[in-house]
Amino acid sequence: MRKGKFYITTPLYYVNDVAHLGHVFEVIGIDALARFKRLLGYDVFFLSGTDEHGAKIQAEAERRKIPPIELVNQVAHTFIDLWHNFDISYDDFIRTTEERHVRSVTTFFETVYANGYIYKGHYEGWYCVPCESFWTASQLQNGNCPECGRPTTRNQEEAYFFKLSAYQQKLLDYIQAHPTFIRPKFRENEMVNSFLKPGLSDLCISRTSVKWGIPLPRDPKHVIYVWFDALINYVTAAGYGDDESQFRTLWPADVHVVGKDILKFHATIWPAMLMAAGLEPPRQVFGHGFVNIKEEKMSKSKGNIIDPRQYLERYGADPVRYFLLREIPYSGDGVFSEDQLRTRYNSDLANDLGNLLSRSLTMIEKYTNGKVEKADGYESEDNAVIHAFDETTRLFEQATPEFEFSQVLAKIWEAINVLNKYINDKQPWALAKDPSKKRVLTSTLYVLAEGLRMIATLISPFMPGTSQRIWQQLGIEQRLSDIPWEELCAWGWLPSGTRVNKQAALFPRLT
Ligand code: MSP
Repeated sequence: MRKGKFYITTPLYYVNDVAHLGHVFEVIGIDALARFKRLLGYDVFFLSGTDEHGAKIQAEAERRKIPPIELVNQVAHTFIDLWHNFDISYDDFIRTTEERHVRSVTTFFETVYANGYIYKGHYEGWYCVPCESFWTASQLQNGNCPECGRPTTRNQEEAYFFKLSAYQQKLLDYIQAHPTFIRPKFRENEMVNSFLKPGLSDLCISRTSVKWGIPLPRDPKHVIYVWFDALINYVTAAGYGDDESQFRTLWPADVHVVGKDILKFHATIWPAMLMAAGLEPPRQVFGHGFVNIKEEKMSKSKGNIIDPRQYLERYGADPVRYFLLREIPYSGDGVFSEDQLRTRYNSDLANDLGNLLSRSLTMIEKYTNGKVEKADGYESEDNAVIHAFDETTRLFEQATPEFEFSQVLAKIWEAINVLNKYINDKQPWALAKDPSKKRVLTSTLYVLAEGLRMIATLISPFMPGTSQRIWQQLGIEQRLSDIPWEELCAWGWLPSGTRVNKQAALFPRLT
């Protein structure tokens, strides 16, 4: 049974530099949730993309002595390639330089203008080029940008403004009326207390000093400020101004997942822009934490970025996906360490999961010619395994949509180790020697195969490649994605007569 649509988005990534491990952490969490929703029967629309306009890109293109479009084409493809290598199952990848987006931004701007929420004025402030941000004198730290610490310059220019100040109370009311709009809860408090309650100033949304952007048809020396441009991508991809019926189906987005640094743009400016355009705000904005390196934020501007491709080559996509989602709580911050990745690879992946599959399939091949038969009754040890999987499935259903990936994975690993202990307790090799224990042996091997089938199901949002490999080795003909969740989640789905097909180890030990 279909459960309705689920529209989920990543932020748009700046293309003034290549993707780093923090971006990968963010996108694999979003991918896990998208896959989870598909598994449960939702019609998922998962959007990712790149943010390709603005002064930073212009400056970077000048530094490299190439036209900006050449730069953005090159870098956007490094994101697309990396997403493929990490098995990111996006349905659409939007680039802000695309024609469909330029049209949508223009329509959006004109609509808000016609509604009376945009006016022309003058902007004066301290501008930081790397951060694309104007700051007031009181926000500067020692005269420098409070975001990246670099020098700012005094700038004044004619500009269009968005009447953000008109939305202070409306946003406060909206947040109060929609208690799950900003998640996690502690970030809602931050937004309300440090950003909304002190008051909102009107937002300068056009630049004459920047050339690389979407020009205003009504006043072409102005290009649209990069944030106003980029945020609109979420409606562009849903068909805004272009495909009304698709737009009505997809909008509002169910969740925008963003880093805590850009939550304020998504939880205040963006809903205000939507209200001003007569559109509904997204249902939820989730602000996740950061991957740090030795307790320090990893970022392009700090110059301490980690290129994820080295880990992809060394360990493969799923071990990196598993490690990041298991080790770093998605809503908070965590530290990345390769030593820790290697430890978890050997213990959780090679030992706990890899050995479980290989031991189980070896025994099934040896004792019952590779065929599993449904048990005609369970013993108490069997029931303990079934109970462990029931509990794990329940937590999986409840905690995955709450972005508690680490907790869910820990619970799945508990179930994996319940099965490992079950093998040691039941000793199938001893049962195989005693012909009177044939029935117990058959049911034991079924419990192992069905437990592995449940594991392949439950890890599929987090480690899709590994899930598929286990599925294949179990010899199941139907594709996991073709089976309704209500059948998949019930113990005993694995049909009698399934013939396993043992292959190479899932995770060869690292030495
Ligand atoms: N282009 C804007 C977003 C526009 S959305 C309409 C932008 N781009 S970014 O490339 O700088 O950041 C993209 C995302 O990466 C943000 O959500 C940001 O929080 C996230 N991360 C950047 N560094 C990160 C870590 N070290 N760890 C986790 N996520 C991090 O902002």
